[in-house]
Amino acid sequence: MAKIVFRSTGKVIEGEQNIKEFLSKYGITYERWGVERLPERLKEEYDLTEEEQKAIIDAYKEELEKLKKEKGYITEDIVVLSNKTPNLEKLLDMFKKEHHHVDDEVRFVVDGSGIFPVKIEGEIVDVYVEAGDLIVVPAGTRHWFELDENRKIKCIRVFKTPAGWEAIYDENEKVSMPLR
Ligand SMILES: [Fe+2]
Repeated sequence: MAKIVFRSTGKVIEGEQNIKEFLSKYGITYERWGVERLPERLKEEYDLTEEEQKAIIDAYKEELEKLKKEKGYITEDIVVLSNKTPNLEKLLDMFKKEHHHVDDEVRFVVDGSGIFPVKIEGEIVDVYVEAGDLIVVPAGTRHWFELDENRKIKCIRVFKTPAGWEAIYDENEKVSMPLR
């Protein structure tokens, strides 16, 4: 189950509705799309062919199209991190540095799990996500990403332009909000 843990106090928020309500106050979208519709192979395989990647994206066509229409996203792809990923440690070192983006960070977790620490009112809040969860971290929100003990995650990511994905490490750097 997804959960939220406040680093300073250890306070935990659980349950889809509670998580959704808490995060929405800070502009973060959380939705539960589930993975029941996916065949096992598409969940378990991390070395996906183009056809398999397309099959995963097609399975969520309805939700993805709705999201893209609402938020102005243009395209999507599949990203995987596992022990088979070349330079995994290097990538994780990069992902765990606090940053923000000029576009939203959109992830639907197809398999595996991970942690999105986000800075909310100066406090670090760990958002634990797992297969079936959608999270949208809005442009400008300071965050980073860590794998958990499962050491693997497979996600659909949705974005406007590749430039919007560049990590901005300096929190004082201005965010120019893109038109929606
Ligand atoms: Fe990010």
